[in-house]
Amino acid sequence: MRIDIITVLPQMLTGPLDCSILKRAQDKGLAEIVVHNLRDYTTNKHKRVDDYPFGGEAGMVIQIEPVDNAIAALKQQREYDEVIFTSPDGELFDQPMANQMSTLQNIIILCGHYKGIDYRIREHLITKEISIGDYVLTGGEMAAAIIADAVVRLIPGAIGDEQSALSDSFQDNLLAPPVYTRPAEYKGWKVPDILLSGHQAKIDEWKLQQAMERTKALRPDLLKED
Ligand code: ADE
Repeated sequence: MRIDIITVLPQMLTGPLDCSILKRAQDKGLAEIVVHNLRDYTTNKHKRVDDYPFGGEAGMVIQIEPVDNAIAALKQQREYDEVIFTSPDGELFDQPMANQMSTLQNIIILCGHYKGIDYRIREHLITKEISIGDYVLTGGEMAAAIIADAVVRLIPGAIGDEQSALSDSFQDNLLAPPVYTRPAEYKGWKVPDILLSGHQAKIDEWKLQQAMERTKALRPDLLKED
């Protein structure tokens, strides 16, 4: 899978994309994540990408030309399944959406910034708008990093233990059960006996029961869906 991210702040993305599973997936050739500086697609001397809004509101607006140039340059190289824009008014990102996106070949993520982007970009160049939650970030870079992380870790082989992505919280609309490791007792705080019992069937039953109880207590909305 290839993810091209277009941003005015590439430095906000280099750290998050270069660590842990995202780095490993890229090193293994399972994912390619390329960050593009929108300023490289300007035609003006000062590499300006924004201008004042028509109608006179406060704040600057990203212009359509550099965005169109950037997307067109990428589309010349390969076909894209989606051209995504990160925005608080997009469709709410969740696990089913991450699962679906992990099956795609090539996607572009355009990060929103400043006061907004020229609406014609959204009308004519964007195929999907995604919000990572009902709050407003200063830009779409963190949202793009979160989407890339959630999607890339689902690509088969990205996570060492094949099972672990499938047993994540949310994959079955249940929160994950608690996990423990050595020591079995610390300051008198004990690991549940069942986990030390060696009865795998009973342990699995306990895990499922814990997952159900935690979901009922913490996220009852997940149990109501579908
Ligand atoms: N840009 C600003 N806020 C955002 C959000 N909540 N989700 C995605 N992109 C954003």
